[in-house]
Amino acid sequence: MDEEEDTSRRKFIRVATIGASAACGLFPIAAGIPSLLDPVKKSSDGGGKVAWSKVAPIASLPEDGSPAKFEVIQEKVVDAWTTYKDVPVGAVYLTRKGDEVVAFNLKCPHLGCAIDFRKQSNDYFCPCHNSSFALDGSVTTENSPSPRPMDTMETKVEKGDVWIRFQQFRPNIPEKIPLS
Ligand code: FES
Repeated sequence: MDEEEDTSRRKFIRVATIGASAACGLFPIAAGIPSLLDPVKKSSDGGGKVAWSKVAPIASLPEDGSPAKFEVIQEKVVDAWTTYKDVPVGAVYLTRKGDEVVAFNLKCPHLGCAIDFRKQSNDYFCPCHNSSFALDGSVTTENSPSPRPMDTMETKVEKGDVWIRFQQFRPNIPEKIPLS
């Protein structure tokens, strides 16, 4: 092997080694970027499931089935590096029928504006593009901008308190698909 060939071979090995080291160093950083951009996304109860959040005493809900609005505070949110305590994650309407509670996400399934409850007409209305919903969350107008009913979430009542598994869903599609 002549000297020139040997030198270019050594050069190639050096460049390849530097490239591989850089790639190894960048991988953990790249893996952490989604959590960094959206730390709440990684919320969990440790088992990879959406955590239960305590929302309100069931006694605070109107017995006639009319909705009451509540902020949802998640006790613990964990991302790649940090545990956050008592994080506001959204808001819901809760309606009660006896001991059964239904939770509706306040976010409109169209493009995410806040839905109002209209006492006069006893229905829900999104003022952004005029979607309206019945008390059971179903769409009430034929050409509604909202492609699906209001988003519900799993609920339970324990020791007099209402708990929910709070979730956000993909906007503006007919299917209800969780975002995390
Ligand atoms: S965001 Fe609610 S109707 Fe468009």
